[in-house]
Amino acid sequence: MLDQPTLIQLPKIKDYRGNLSFFESTHQIPFLIKRVYWIYDVPGGEKRGEHAYYTQQEFIVCLSGSVELIVDNGFNKATFQLTRSYYGVYIPAMHWRNLYNFSTNAVVVIASNDVYKESDYIRTYSKFLNAINKPTHQ
Ligand code: TYD
Repeated sequence: MLDQPTLIQLPKIKDYRGNLSFFESTHQIPFLIKRVYWIYDVPGGEKRGEHAYYTQQEFIVCLSGSVELIVDNGFNKATFQLTRSYYGVYIPAMHWRNLYNFSTNAVVVIASNDVYKESDYIRTYSKFLNAINKPTHQ
């Protein structure tokens, strides 16, 4: 059971026809997948994410191009540069994430352990800090 944001190297099967990579529930990633969505055609300079989930876990792979990802547990931030389609980042629940610096034609695929539920989103950083019981000023 992973409880930290984790960079996971995926299998890469190479032959003369090209490369093939994959991830499977509970082998490469620690949850059962209920939903897959993808982000693409992101205009230069735009950011995505900027929220956390109360319960949902995700696994993020940049299939094409590159993108940077910050995952923040309210105390520490981890930065990932996703430039290869055979690496992905596991994000546990209750972690704030920012996706930025999308390259032209970047395609980012995200697997989640649940269907889309707006009620699972925490969309403001102060609400996120409250939810993890971090004092916002001392
Ligand atoms: P949002 O989660 O804010 O995007 P990001 O991935 O950049 O954080 O979602 C943008 C919009 O798309 C929002 O109105 C909710 C909707 N949406 C769905 O309907 N289904 C989904 O699976 C997702 C991820 C978003």
